[in-house]
Amino acid sequence: MTGTEVFNIGLCGFGTVGQGVWQHLAAHRAGLEARLGVRLAVTRVAVRDRRKARDVAIPARLLTEDPLSIATDPAIPIVCELIGGTTLAREVTLAALRAGKVVVSANKALICDHGPEIIRTAARHGGHFFFEASVAGGIPIIKALREGLVANRFPRIYGILNGTCNYILTRMQEENAPYAQVLAEAKRLGYAEADESLDVDGWDTAHKASVLAWLAHGAWVRSDQMIVEGISRLTPEDFRNAALLGYGIKLLAVITRDFARNELCVRVHPTLLPRGNVVANVHGVFNAVSVTGDVVGTTFYSGRGAGRDATASAVIADLADAASLLKYGKGAHLLGEVTAPPSSGCRLAPAEHIRSRYYLRLAVADRPGVLARIASVMARHHVSIASVIQNPATEPGLASLVLTTHESNERATAATLRDLRRLAVVRAEPVLLRLGDFDS
Ligand code: NAP
Ligand code: HSE
Repeated sequence: MTGTEVFNIGLCGFGTVGQGVWQHLAAHRAGLEARLGVRLAVTRVAVRDRRKARDVAIPARLLTEDPLSIATDPAIPIVCELIGGTTLAREVTLAALRAGKVVVSANKALICDHGPEIIRTAARHGGHFFFEASVAGGIPIIKALREGLVANRFPRIYGILNGTCNYILTRMQEENAPYAQVLAEAKRLGYAEADESLDVDGWDTAHKASVLAWLAHGAWVRSDQMIVEGISRLTPEDFRNAALLGYGIKLLAVITRDFARNELCVRVHPTLLPRGNVVANVHGVFNAVSVTGDVVGTTFYSGRGAGRDATASAVIADLADAASLLKYGKGAHLLGEVTAPPSSGCRLAPAEHIRSRYYLRLAVADRPGVLARIASVMARHHVSIASVIQNPATEPGLASLVLTTHESNERATAATLRDLRRLAVVRAEPVLLRLGDFDS
């Protein structure tokens, strides 16, 4: 392609995702360049340690340990931030945007914590920020919300957004495998975050939910404004109980908007999903998102949510958009111009408006009157019992009581839990899970 315009790309980060981008960009370069009518050249790559042995070979002359030098290099119009975290990644992103560059990012934590600053900086300095890889790995969910579904308002979006957790839950459910062993394998496969608590405690899902909520509703919801519960307290017994009740267990992000009240709710928690629900049948590292739009109805997306190749696919899609934006100009793209709909001043839903059915597992003293005492606490808070299962507990004299409730709300169940903890007959921290009786 002699005489064709060349766009230089700087990769900041050459770990799981960075190496995947390098590999797949090299393999698909000719086809991409033919379609885009430009040449793409990775000219600098920043890492923490230049001497580190890597799976993917790279010319040493490209390497630097100074990612900010890439962000500010006038010869590099496209900067790919694949470092992770929210400190150096923020500096690199803001420096590149201040220089009017296109930044491609897979960093959902950064967007959740600093999204408004990033979008403001891009707008002020003529930079652009693309982040397809930040949510649901290889699934083009950002494009779907921003472009394909632009005619819609979204009363409900829910789904599995963390591949590591889905991998762990699937193996716990199907093989009764111990949590720690499965987590170690997820890390070896490159699915888990460097800090695994981001995955298993629900924060990574919360970061992604924040990005989706912004795209769908124009409102930034921080993770400390959400209900966020992880998977580490789930036991094989919960999977057995759920199966008995006709459910599987998934870690879900649930984003609901009540347009009549103008309220938004963003939450992340392990959820019992009916076995027939399509999301309940998405297993392993796969993610799944169900998006209900007021015009289109419910649409469903599934694919690999983590790992080198799936994430590289999304990053390369953004690199193609970046090149096309630089070549053809802003008007050619909805991206960068229409970033999110106006929030219309929506408020966060108060706890009493967040409604669902619940699953409650209690380790209790196995003696007369215990069930009655628990039922009376629930009745005091107007939480109505739908079913009861009693299993023998592992310790003598204890029983494991599993109750499901009719529809209630977060305020009533929080008050119920508070009072149950005070009962001497309740011997361990209760486990409360939500039921996701979604119609689609
Ligand atoms: P990773 O494997 O830990 O790679 C991080 C890279 O950043 C490494 O190359 C590291 O250098 C480099 N780095 C770290 N600190 C640096 C510093 N101070 N200066 C220069 N370079 C530095 O991470 P990853 O899994 O590829 O994830 C990257 C981003 O993608 C994160 O935001 C993550 O949340 C996101 N993401 C990951 C996945 C996934 O499946 N892994 C999926 C979607 C999104 P060294 O190689 O020298 O250590
Ligand atoms: N740790 C994340 C996951 C990587 O397991 O989904 C993808 O964002």
